[in-house]
Amino acid sequence: QLRAGQSRIMSLLVLDMGNPFFVDLARGAERAAREAGLGVMVCNSAQSPAVEAEYLSMFAEQRVRGALITPADPSGATLRAFRRHGIPYVVVDRVAGDEPGCSVAVDDVAGGTLALRHLVDAGHRSLAYVSGPPHLKQVQDRREGAHKALAEAGLPASHLYELPTDRLDVAAGRDAGARLLGLAHRPTAVFCANDLLALGVLQSLYAAGVRVPDDMSLVGYDDIEFASAATVPLTSVRQPATTLGTIAAHLLLQETGPHATDHHHEHIVLRPELVVRGSSRGPC
Ligand code: RIB
Repeated sequence: QLRAGQSRIMSLLVLDMGNPFFVDLARGAERAAREAGLGVMVCNSAQSPAVEAEYLSMFAEQRVRGALITPADPSGATLRAFRRHGIPYVVVDRVAGDEPGCSVAVDDVAGGTLALRHLVDAGHRSLAYVSGPPHLKQVQDRREGAHKALAEAGLPASHLYELPTDRLDVAAGRDAGARLLGLAHRPTAVFCANDLLALGVLQSLYAAGVRVPDDMSLVGYDDIEFASAATVPLTSVRQPATTLGTIAAHLLLQETGPHATDHHHEHIVLRPELVVRGSSRGPC
């Protein structure tokens, strides 16, 4: 029977195994764990708090070294349960405010501001935000940042029309693109909460003969590898996903195992950067 802190397995519980962002994140965590003689067990909550809770009991039963988690459950219940079960954890990809435990994330408010400032500076005044599940902090922060850029430019919030989706994936992006095309007053620029949504929007616009960026500018978020490889290379707010994974694993390793030190709740926030490519430019 393994004692706490003895396991050589670290679990990584991601929101969406189909999103290359989490593959890049896992790459960083896996390398850091391997260098410390540990392995990483990658699990997928598929954005479901119920699935997340199932994994919680498995992690407790298997006495994993600890868990890196991008929470699907916005209430913090999962993290409280981790603490109850004595499972060390690090929150990844979400700025954990007052929650105990460590976290590492990118400043998504700054990221949203970078995206919208780029479009407003290019001259766009009729803009749309294709968002994701409203309970995800990543989505909320990107929206908040986008509105900060509008306010900076003295533009009313009504200049940013929001199209909500329930999943941050390509299919939801295709659906949002179709809704965009149906709008009476079609925006000239669209900011998407992540690159998978943006690639789906691009597919719908392309199928309808709407040219990007000539008829509509498009900006994504994450800068996954497919962003630069898209038919129209995507302008995107880059998240250093692999670095997020590496730092998260190091935080967990420092907190567990033979030389454990309590971090007193270290919250690391990295800066995003805007990568401008062919999918965005000024309105014609
Ligand atoms: O899947 C959730 C999204 O949040 C990812 O695309 C990435 O942007 C993360 O921050």
